[in-house]
Amino acid sequence: MQDHPIVRAFHHPPTGSLAYVASDPGTGRCAIIDPVLGFDRRSGQVDTQFADTMALHLQTEGLRAEWVIDTHPHADHFSAVAYLGERLGARTATGATVTMVQEIWTKLYNLPELRSTAWWDRLLIPGDRLELGSLSIEAIASPGHTAASVTYLIGDTAFIHDTLFMPDIGTARADFPGADARALYESIQGLLSLPEGTRLFTGHDYPPEGRAAAWETSIVQQRATNIHLRGNPDAASFIAMRQARDQSLPLPDLMLLALQVNLRGGRLPEPEADGHAYLRLPLDRFAAAPARPRTGARPPSPPLRARCALGSPSRLPG
Ligand SMILES: [Fe+2]
Repeated sequence: MQDHPIVRAFHHPPTGSLAYVASDPGTGRCAIIDPVLGFDRRSGQVDTQFADTMALHLQTEGLRAEWVIDTHPHADHFSAVAYLGERLGARTATGATVTMVQEIWTKLYNLPELRSTAWWDRLLIPGDRLELGSLSIEAIASPGHTAASVTYLIGDTAFIHDTLFMPDIGTARADFPGADARALYESIQGLLSLPEGTRLFTGHDYPPEGRAAAWETSIVQQRATNIHLRGNPDAASFIAMRQARDQSLPLPDLMLLALQVNLRGGRLPEPEADGHAYLRLPLDRFAAAPARPRTGARPPSPPLRARCALGSPSRLPG
């Protein structure tokens, strides 16, 4: 029988993010995947409530964290990897190609200190395995949404982050700096070729009115009903669909603030001479979000792109 971790999902409604605790039923060793650090952009207040709820779950269930890991540098929330790694005495990890994303954002923020691999205990290359009691976590490269995106495969269970979403939502955007729609297409093909019984857990859900948030899906369900895979599109069709859709999407509210935290493994900047920490905001580096038309107003034409002023992200390695 295939290894079968116990999975507990934690949904973060303000950002639609999913974080997970995946545990080995035999030993109680667990991994925390994509934990969220709360942040209120109006006040600049950081809070650990969501991450603390995850830590409490471990305590209640008698689990011990071995690993706290991110699937990719998130653009819509702050990562709690560093916080929970320290609090729980667990090691931290993410994909090794995070250095590519650091390189891009080091320039955007003019912040050379971002270029460091010391923020994590392990940087994973495809095929690397992390021990988890009697189970193991295998790192599978699944770039596209970011250049550093990694799927974690534990036995019959894959944490697929921002590749495929629930079938009625489709797939993740691929227009951030370092993103690549073709790489996303190829990553999705790779995920769909996993054993058919593999359980898939997504990185977000944005449920439409009337549907509760959901996060577990399957290869059969995705092949049959994902709205972006209808008709089994070839790479060119998928890329054209993805790029057209991405042109209409505004940047995530927290992207410009979150990446300077998440590319430090979820560490906040060091306090400055006055004892307080500050985040940077690069000015005039991205196109504005498409304006939402008022009732009766004509929509903007053509839509503005949420494109990085460094150039087309698709030219960057995926
Ligand atoms: Fe993401």
